[in-house]
Amino acid sequence: MTYAIEVQGLSKSFHPGAKALDGVDLLVADGEMVALLGASGSGKSTLLRHLAGFVAGDAGSVAVNGQAIQRNGRLSRNVRGARAGIGFVFQQFNLVGRLPVITNVLTGLLPRVPLWRSLARWFLRAEVRQGLDALAQVGIDDYAFQRASTLSGGQQQRAAIARTLVQNARVILADEPIASLDPESSRRVMDTLAQINRSRKVAVVVSLHQVDVALRYCPRVVALRQGKVVYDGPSAALTPSMLRELYGADLGELLPEYAPQAPAVAPLSRLAHAA
Ligand SMILES: Nc1ncnc2c1ncn2[C@@H]1O[C@H](COP(=O)(O)OP(=O)(O)OP(=O)(O)O)[C@@H](O)[C@H]1O
Ligand SMILES: [Mg+2]
Repeated sequence: MTYAIEVQGLSKSFHPGAKALDGVDLLVADGEMVALLGASGSGKSTLLRHLAGFVAGDAGSVAVNGQAIQRNGRLSRNVRGARAGIGFVFQQFNLVGRLPVITNVLTGLLPRVPLWRSLARWFLRAEVRQGLDALAQVGIDDYAFQRASTLSGGQQQRAAIARTLVQNARVILADEPIASLDPESSRRVMDTLAQINRSRKVAVVVSLHQVDVALRYCPRVVALRQGKVVYDGPSAALTPSMLRELYGADLGELLPEYAPQAPAVAPLSRLAHAA
């Protein structure tokens, strides 16, 4: 069986003595949708950046779509080629605001389009059609010829997802794609990711702060704490008491109802009485 993602013993320290990733093992099959959970600083972004080959770890190996990304602290010679099959979705969308949405989406073709054409932003009619189809799939084709900066955050994030469709990515890595969005836009972006995961059998790994969103959209959860995988299994099995065990004092960040209560403040009227 080939896996969409294979990680073995991946470790990374940015500072001596502090491990950002600590012996991470992870297998993700084609077509899975996995939530990466963890409190701030637990290593979610670091893991995703290692999967995409933006950074080399200190030890361990990563392969995506059967192609080596890195091994024993070195990026693979073919990392650029391997990256062509990976769509990365960033919290801050990473679109060029002054360019039309369609042009941003068509940059997903770049690994396959000759450099001179991409520099001239000269795309074939069939390629533009492909971009429009991708925008229609994520529900924003009406905005194709507007500047990206004129779209709402949620629409921009869906354009970023359309770019991974044009790229024909087999794996989508999304690093907190809804962290800067309102609840309605968040729902649309998560629906879009789930729909692509189901219809195209694309493997999706999405880091999230919110346990409730992870449980709603992702059948499997991988939870990190201090760079270690502390849970990897069905999201249905993650109970609040298990989460409390995994996260202790950090749980309030993941489940707001478990946040420490602020001390009650006496109403002003009562203070006035007391004076
Ligand atoms: N480029 C870097 N240089 C130094 N330290 C880093 C770097 N990137 C990450 N770290 C450290 O690695 C640890 C994990 O950080 P990471 O950004 O992966 O956490 P995270 O789970 O994504 O957190 P958040 O939820 O806040 O985004 C942290 O201690 C962080 O300070
Ligand atoms: Mg992060």
